[in-house]
Amino acid sequence: MHMKQILVTGANGQLGSSLKERSRFYNQFEYTFIDFQDLDLTKEHQVQQFFEKRAFDYIINCAAYTAVDRAEKEREQAFSVNEGIPVLLGNLCRQRPVYLLHISTDYVYSGESWLPHLEEEDPAVTSVYAESKLKGEMSLWNNSRCMVIRTSWLYSEYGNNFLRNMIRLFGERSELGVVFDQTGSPTYAGDLAQALLDIIVYSENHGFKSGIFNYANEGVCSWYDFAVEIMSLTGSVCNVHPIRTSEYPLPARRPEYSVMDKTKIKSTFGLKIPHWKQSLITAIHNLNHSYEFRLP
Ligand SMILES: NC(=O)c1ccc[n+]([C@@H]2O[C@H](COP(=O)([O-])OP(=O)(O)OC[C@H]3O[C@@H](n4cnc5c(N)ncnc54)[C@H](OP(=O)(O)O)[C@@H]3O)[C@@H](O)[C@H]2O)c1
Repeated sequence: MHMKQILVTGANGQLGSSLKERSRFYNQFEYTFIDFQDLDLTKEHQVQQFFEKRAFDYIINCAAYTAVDRAEKEREQAFSVNEGIPVLLGNLCRQRPVYLLHISTDYVYSGESWLPHLEEEDPAVTSVYAESKLKGEMSLWNNSRCMVIRTSWLYSEYGNNFLRNMIRLFGERSELGVVFDQTGSPTYAGDLAQALLDIIVYSENHGFKSGIFNYANEGVCSWYDFAVEIMSLTGSVCNVHPIRTSEYPLPARRPEYSVMDKTKIKSTFGLKIPHWKQSLITAIHNLNHSYEFRLP
């Protein structure tokens, strides 16, 4: 029997690594994991050649330029990856029977309204990174073989992220200011990886659903609350205090309120989404048991 083939791009990043880990529980599919060193997805000719040799049923595109602040100065690079890759993959999906699950960001929402954002809202971006991600997803909006999944505040046991940064800083400092005037929902990449694979299982049984979907863990907090919870769960000792964004200025402006409404993704695919505090416990447990990282 032909096993359905899934290609995961950006495979060494946070979400790609989480997909590698979760895919072990979805062994009805065959996986190919690629990253920049295997194939630069901005190189059209090489990408065409790659897809001429190999046929896939689904692509999960986790490849992205994610240096939010650096993007303010590296506009061209940010657009070449965050717009260029979805444009290329979207065109491939028009030419052959392959479905794309593309990951986008909560930064496409203005963050000015204090109500959870809905997929159909008009986007409003405040940074080069957000603009480049928006351009990328816009190229897929009317493609019936493509789905856009917007996520927020992604963290995991892999790579560079808030959870790992906080644990490191708690070990280095006795005092730490963390912003409390940005509100959002942390997302454990392990949960998102599982949701993506569940969506593919759903697609196999009920057909592919194109469109835009929000996905984050349930619940709402500020970065400060997130930091305090990490401190408490890891038994770290540090005087963490709330500060305003203006006291920690960064080149790229962030949305103030980036909480997303997840009704659509839950009702369409029957997903159950864990609360962020529950998932943080899981992430810290997994982090503590990973080879590359030890809690202090
Ligand atoms: N992190 C967050 O808080 C957050 C929040 C909302 C949405 N998102 C979105 O979620 C998705 C996954 O994020 P993540 O945190 O897993 O990202 P990540 O850890 O930065 O991983 C991105 C991967 O893409 C690869 N890549 C970059 N340019 C490439 C190219 N030209 N060709 C092939 N591969 C390339 C990178 O390789 P190199 O490392 O070699 O460059 C890296 O392995 C992204 O779409 C991101 O925009 C992230």
